[in-house]
Parts: sequence; structure tokens; C-alpha cells
Amino acid sequence: MAGQGTRFLPATKAMPKEMLPVVDRPLIQYAVDEARAAGIEEFIFVTGRAKSAIEDHFDASSELERSLEEQGKTEALAAIREVMPEAGRIAYTRQQHPLGLGHAVWCARYLIGDEPFAVLLADDLILAEPGCLAQMIDVYKRTGGNLVAAEDVPKAQTDRYGILDVAEDDGTLARARALVEKPNPADAPSTLSIIGRYILQPQVLRELDRQEKGAGGEIQLTDAMARTIGDIPFHGLRFEGRRFDCGNRLGFIEANIAFGLDRDDMTDRVKEILAVYG
Ligand code: G1P
Repeated sequence: MAGQGTRFLPATKAMPKEMLPVVDRPLIQYAVDEARAAGIEEFIFVTGRAKSAIEDHFDASSELERSLEEQGKTEALAAIREVMPEAGRIAYTRQQHPLGLGHAVWCARYLIGDEPFAVLLADDLILAEPGCLAQMIDVYKRTGGNLVAAEDVPKAQTDRYGILDVAEDDGTLARARALVEKPNPADAPSTLSIIGRYILQPQVLRELDRQEKGAGGEIQLTDAMARTIGDIPFHGLRFEGRRFDCGNRLGFIEANIAFGLDRDDMTDRVKEILAVYG
């Protein structure tokens, strides 16, 4: 998506924020790996300026491969080879103007076609096993319709998220009767918020065709989803796992610590480092 990553300047001056690494992989690769693990086979990237780093990341790099091969660095070689999706199953399109998340998704409408699709926002990084999208697909097999990842947030933070107006809730899965994008805490219908994972029906794209502006003067995905409620069910799933908001610096630092601790080859050393500063 064409977010400008201003919170990470100057790091994001010449590269998109989706290329920021957590431990040793860029955010965008976590999103692709999570989608793949959920059975997704085709990928569309909606990018903005400075997208070439993303394209190069998911491309072959014969020179680098050859030199790693010569040096016998088989682990590193495997790490870069497994990044590549199958040829022809990856496409890029540019969001020419930063008109909002709904607009970014709409930019991919011809590539998506008339079938259900998933949206992953790379700066919502989720540490979970099985991955968040895999958990969602499991539940989607029962619910159909539109399904998003959801999390309860502190009341004071409802103005950062899309919020569900909950009709039914079993503590894990909530059905919404309406949605509101970034409401003031005083007006929020609940504290159950949308996290950047969506399984959506193509009707949402038809709603986005209206190009109606919502909160912040942007074309909101939340509004388009909200307009399909009544025709198709809308659910939020409280997934198992931890989510890190890598769109802000502290969330990003926390993600690096958590993912470092989660890596078997690093756990002990990261703990030692933390103890020094604890
Ligand atoms: C977007 C969506 C919002 C959602 C959030 C999840 O907001 O508009 O509904 O809750 O992603 O991260 P953004 O973070 O782009 O402002």
C-alpha cells in the first residue's frame, strides 16, 4: 500500500516501510509467508513509489546465488531461494495517489477478478502458530462472507482502528451489525478493532467502485465492508497470537525483541541482552 512511512524517516526515504527488517526478514516477507502457509498461491502487491526494492526482493538473484554456492553457504542460499513465489503468480500494481486503504485495495480490482481474496497489511505483524490467516481460513470455511482479524484495544485507542458494532459474540468470534472507522472513544460501539488481515468477497470491490470518502477524507475499506452487511455476514475473529504494530517505532522494536526470542538459534542470547538493559 502506498503509505509513506513518515514515522520511520529517514529509514524509509529510499525504501518502502514494508522492507524494514524484523530480525532478518523484511515485513513484507512475513506477510507473504503467512499467506502462503494459509494456502494462498497468488500474490498482488499494491505499492507506491520506491517499489523496486520489493520487486527485487521477490525476484531471483543469480549473481548472489552463484556466489553463495561457491562459498558453500547453503543455509543462506536456501533462505533466499525460498523467498520466491512461483513465476507468474506474483503481480504488482501501483496506487498512484494516497487516497486510503480502500482505494489501495480497489487498485487491484482487475487483478483480483470476481472471487474471494485476502488482504494482509504488512505493518500489522503477527506472531502465531498456526499463522493468523490460516486460523482465519479455518473459521471462514464455516462463516463465509467477510471475515477480519480482530483484537480488543484500550478504549482510548478506538480512533486508530476500524471498530465492530457487535451483534453476537462468543468470546472468540464476533458478528458485526455495523462498522465504524476510527471513532472517537466516546462514540465507539465497542473496543473490538480490525487488525490488518481480511478475507473478503468481491462485493466489497463493487462498493469501493463508489469511491466515497470517509474518515480522514480517505476511501475506507471499513466503509465498503460495512455496506455489504445485511447482504453477507461480517465476522471478526480474535486470533491466537501476538500482534505488533510495526507502523510505529516502539511496536517495531517490540516485534524485533519478540521475534528474536522466538528464534531457537537466538532465544538465550536475546534474553542475555535484555537482562543487561532490564
Ligand atoms: C487501517 C484500517 C483500519 C484497521 C487498521 C489495522 O488503518 O483503515 O480499519 O483497523 O488498518 O491496522 P491504518 O492503520 O491504515 O490507519
